[in-house]
Amino acid sequence: MLTTVLVTGGAGFIGSNFVLDWIASSDELVINLDKLTYAGNLQNLETLKGDKRHIFVQGDIGDHNLVLGLLREHNVRAVINFAAESHVDRSIDGPEEFIQTNVVGTFHLLEAVRDYWGGLAENDKSAFRFLHVSTDEVYGSLEKSDPPFAETNRYEPNSPYSASKAASDHLVRAYHHTYGLPVLTTNCSNNYGPYHFPEKLIPLCIHNALTGKPLPIYGDGQQVRDWLYVKDHCSAIRRVLEAGKVGETYNVGGWNEKPNLEVVQTLCAILDELKPRSDGRPYADQITYVKDRLGHDRRYAIDARRLERELGWRPAETFETGIKKTVQWYLDNQEWVNNITSGAYRDWVERQYLV
Ligand code: NAD
Ligand code: TYD
Repeated sequence: MLTTVLVTGGAGFIGSNFVLDWIASSDELVINLDKLTYAGNLQNLETLKGDKRHIFVQGDIGDHNLVLGLLREHNVRAVINFAAESHVDRSIDGPEEFIQTNVVGTFHLLEAVRDYWGGLAENDKSAFRFLHVSTDEVYGSLEKSDPPFAETNRYEPNSPYSASKAASDHLVRAYHHTYGLPVLTTNCSNNYGPYHFPEKLIPLCIHNALTGKPLPIYGDGQQVRDWLYVKDHCSAIRRVLEAGKVGETYNVGGWNEKPNLEVVQTLCAILDELKPRSDGRPYADQITYVKDRLGHDRRYAIDARRLERELGWRPAETFETGIKKTVQWYLDNQEWVNNITSGAYRDWVERQYLV
């Protein structure tokens, strides 16, 4: 019987939360393959140091021989693919890395997995799973009155990021239909929570608020995102891995649609309560309107009823409870933020893990 899971991108925001939660609830070995781009941070996994249930490997999902070697050496029963370039603004600034990792990298990963899977015994073959972690952004943008994205919505990606994720979803689908690879795909809405890299809206605004910098709101701030606490995303992935129907896709979301301005105002209000500014002024004074993002999608919203109906999954956090926990986490983990923002986390990685 096969006994190990391979997580790719497990040093990033969602991947590291997933690995931490997995180890907390299971004795199964986790192989964590991550290239450690600017977004990968082994400090997220500091609490697993010395834990034999976690093996970290620095490498690229596009490295066929490396991936095949890991799958064979560790008798892997499931691959959970988080590895990606994930920031929309970076994809607008320079799309090439997004095509390389999200499209070409996923293709090579699928090829290595297909090689491995093809050589398994029949019962291991049917029990094997490839779970691809994707995004709601592949569905494009909604008007105010549109119903939320269902699994049956057309793919209409608008940014180089979402187009590259859409391409990877299509490849995953094709490997099931063509080769019979037992795949599952999840399309989740915007996540927030611990270890979120401070280039994304929520951690950026918490960090900027605390350091006296402007809180940049793109355009009119009325773009809507559907926010899900990262631990809820992780529990949804575990549930889909355990009981999802092979070849199917599942939308994951928290029914928490909020305009960006409201999200930032909420962050400011929580900070006013937990760590008031020394001059007594509200943090909302730091809100600043800046130039809008090119091609900015107006609204995302997820219809997560299928996941609830078929697999019994529901989020544990509301936006109110999750965002409070998140702000508190950032206040309690200022060193983590400082290491990232000063670039010193690279030194930390070399000192602690790679020498
Ligand atoms: P992230 O940018 O924080 O982490 C990505 C990780 O992948 C990093 O650790 C990075 O080093 C690693 N990586 C990048 N290229 C790699 C490569 N070629 N080989 C191996 N590792 C590589 O991203 P995240 O926010 O944690 O997102 C994880 C996944 O979830 C992505 O696939 C993303 O599209 C998807 N997703 C994210 C959100 C969100 O709100 N953040 C929502 C829905 C879906
Ligand atoms: P982001 O966290 O980058 O996630 P995504 O683009 O994947 O939804 O952005 C969330 C929303 O916040 C998005 O509508 C863009 C907006 N935004 C700002 O208004 N200001 C910022 O500085 C950032 C980074 C994002």
